[in-house]
Order: sequence, then structure tokens, then C-alpha cells
Amino acid sequence: MSAQTQIRRKTVKDIAKAKGGDPLVCLTAYDAQVASLLDPHCDILLVGDSVGMVVHGLSSTVGVTLEMMILHGQAVMRGSSQAFVVVDMPFGSYETNSDQAFLNAARIMQETGCQAVKIESGTYAATQIAHLVERGIPVMGHVGLRPQAINVDGGFRAKGRTTGEWDRAIQEAVAADRAGAFAIVVEGVAPNLADEITAAVECPTIGIGASAGCDGQILVTNDLLGMTDWVPKFVKKNADLKTVIGEATETYANEVRSRAFPGEAQTYKVRKSADS
Ligand code: KIV
Repeated sequence: MSAQTQIRRKTVKDIAKAKGGDPLVCLTAYDAQVASLLDPHCDILLVGDSVGMVVHGLSSTVGVTLEMMILHGQAVMRGSSQAFVVVDMPFGSYETNSDQAFLNAARIMQETGCQAVKIESGTYAATQIAHLVERGIPVMGHVGLRPQAINVDGGFRAKGRTTGEWDRAIQEAVAADRAGAFAIVVEGVAPNLADEITAAVECPTIGIGASAGCDGQILVTNDLLGMTDWVPKFVKKNADLKTVIGEATETYANEVRSRAFPGEAQTYKVRKSADS
């Protein structure tokens, strides 16, 4: 492949340019194989801390560690070549102060080779965002429903039910934007609140359970592919992999038990000759 035709990874400039333009296509990815399938179609692959629930069977993202994020970030980088890859900063890795945030974000960037980190951004996090951006680390914000805050919220609840919640979501987004976030995930809010946030910030907004008016959309890939029975209201399942995997596994189990597998096509034809 010549230097001219080589596929180049998207940069933070490509993402920023999407404000008010064609919507950004974003999905989560946690491993190299799935990342390679999503990569040709996506502007951004997010190594979300949802990995804790989706891959590791945790009941929330609170138990996710920096080491888990780094391991999955490395795999997604190996499996992708053109998407902009963002790795989530897990709960407890950035909230204390800017120094803690920088040391952990730098570790993620150095050990995975990803292009940016994501921080769930209460207004306090503007300090950390500005600190990281000034030191060379692009940051994606995340406002509205913040899964790392479920223990304060009492569960995964859509935001904007009161004037206070509504205003806070806007304040969080504006604070992240002014601090230098290159994009902001807006999760679990009514469409008109998402649209207000999109209008209030200069960087692109990426909706999940938000509004078609956001500058992009993101979903948890396993939800999109129908790997589970239950998905949140905002997911449109575009496949039914749960059924596909269940049927393929049942067929395998039946064929193993009846000795129909392995058949001739799956066995080696090795001719034995005398030892030389
Ligand atoms: O962790 C995650 O997957 C996320 C997306 C749902 C935005 O933060």
C-alpha cells in the first residue's frame, strides 16, 4: 500500500469538525475481533467502562479498574485502524484532583496508544479536563445520566425530571466544553434537553438515549447486536445475536452428543509412513 492510499486514523480535528455537520457514528468496543468489524463503519470506537457490565458481568461500572480499561484499550487499538479510539477513565481514577487524573490518563494513553480519554463530568471535573487538555490529552466529557454516579442517583435514571436536574445537565456540559472537551456524550435525557445542550456547547455532542439532533450517536455494541433479552428503551436492536449464538451452540451440542461432529470435513487426512 502506498503512503497516499494508506488508511489514516481519524484525529481529534476530524471529530471537532463534525459540529453541526454529518452525524458522528460511534459504538463501544472491548476486543480486537469486534473492533475490526466495527472499525470500517465508525468515526469513534469507545472502550467504555460498560465493559465491566457487558464483558465481566458486574452489576454496575463502579467496580471497573484502570488495568481492565488498559487491557481492553490495547485490544481495540490492535483491532482497529481508522476509527478515533477513546478509552473511559474508570470510577476513582480521576476525581481526587488534577494530578491523579493526569497520571492515570497518561498511563492509559501510553499503554494503549488510544487518541483520547473520556471522563464522566460533573461540573467539578472541568478542572481535571482543562488540566489534561493543557498537557496534551484530548478529553471527551459525559453528562446527563452518569453511570458511575448510580449510587448517588439510586439507579440508572433519565435526567432532567426537575428544573434543578435540567439546569445541572446544561451546566455540566457547558463546563466541560469551556474546559476544552473535544466532544461530550449526552446520556439519558429528553430530546429537548439534549438539543438545548447541543446548542449551548461549541464541541460536538454524542447522544445515547438523547436526541437525533445531537452531533453524533453512540450505543453499547452488544445492545445493538441483540446479545441480551433486555435493552434500555433507547436501543434499536439491529440483530438478534442471542438467538444466532444459542442456535449455533445447540446444533454443536447435538452433533457432539450424536458423534456427528467432527465429520470427515473436519478431520485431518494424514498418511502414516515408516520412520526414516
Ligand atoms: O461506558 C460506556 O459504554 C459509555 C457509553 C454508553 C457512552 O459510557
